[in-house]
Amino acid sequence: MNVLEKVVTLNELRKARNELPEPVGLVPTMGFLHEGHLSLVKRACEQSASVVVSIFVNPTQFAPTDDLDAYPRDLERDAALLQEAGAKLLWVPTPEVMYPPDFQTWVDVEKISQPLEGEKRPGHFRGVTTVVTKLFNAVQPQKAFFGQKDAQQAAVIRQMVRDLNMSVEIVTQPIVRERDGLAMSSRNTYLNPAERQAALVLSKSLAAAESAYEAGERDAQSIRKIMEDIINAEPLARLEYVSCADFETLEELEIISNKALLSMAVYIGRTRLIDNCVLG
Ligand code: PAJ
Repeated sequence: MNVLEKVVTLNELRKARNELPEPVGLVPTMGFLHEGHLSLVKRACEQSASVVVSIFVNPTQFAPTDDLDAYPRDLERDAALLQEAGAKLLWVPTPEVMYPPDFQTWVDVEKISQPLEGEKRPGHFRGVTTVVTKLFNAVQPQKAFFGQKDAQQAAVIRQMVRDLNMSVEIVTQPIVRERDGLAMSSRNTYLNPAERQAALVLSKSLAAAESAYEAGERDAQSIRKIMEDIINAEPLARLEYVSCADFETLEELEIISNKALLSMAVYIGRTRLIDNCVLG
């Protein structure tokens, strides 16, 4: 049976990491694991001799009004799932380990962090890129695994790795969905039954936009309108943004001629959900 070692401090992490067979794969998470996270761990196990998973609900990527304190946690269950999935090392740093009182260095990816999630959640990506840099520096993985669920996050991290000459390969994995299409998310646990049903508008609107694209629609505004109309028709949904953007630059498009990212953020009741798909 696979044995999962759990560590907290930086010294413990470094010592345990140095004993792992190379190459090492890292899967950064905030815990409360679901099949989406586990798909990353499984891919990491296929592509690395040892897999390290971090669980850290990173305070610097949450705004004061966000759900930091309410964010769901279940470390015991997570550890059992990771052991079963084949991970070797679980790093669960405390906020004090990650951010000691004299902490003062930040990583900020300027341009690609600005639109979409960056615009709606100021400071969010600065928190993400700073903590991911710290995770990379501590674990020194050859590969790190991220989900396409957070498409902009993956793009921002790729940019950071290129810009700062980090010697880690970024691997992205497709979105894992519930049977009815809802993208898996730790935040889905906030939804009551009526909201859970209403939350299907995200994946439904993406599917409708994708069908229009496949039928030949290339006008980005028409594609955005298809998504908006479906979301606005759901009384429990409040649209924050829909986007039809260039896949590489994340700039909004007028005409879809290359690979495009359709993405959105929608409040279902008080729960903020995101989803996306790639065209072309
Ligand atoms: P978290 O939301 O826990 O997600 C951890 C990883 O799992 C991310 O790369 C995310 O894209 C991926 N993921 C989440 N839901 C998924 C799904 N349904 N299908 C496929 N992959 C999915 O993203 C974070 O944590 C944090 O920002 C982090 C990178 C750990 C930095 O704090």
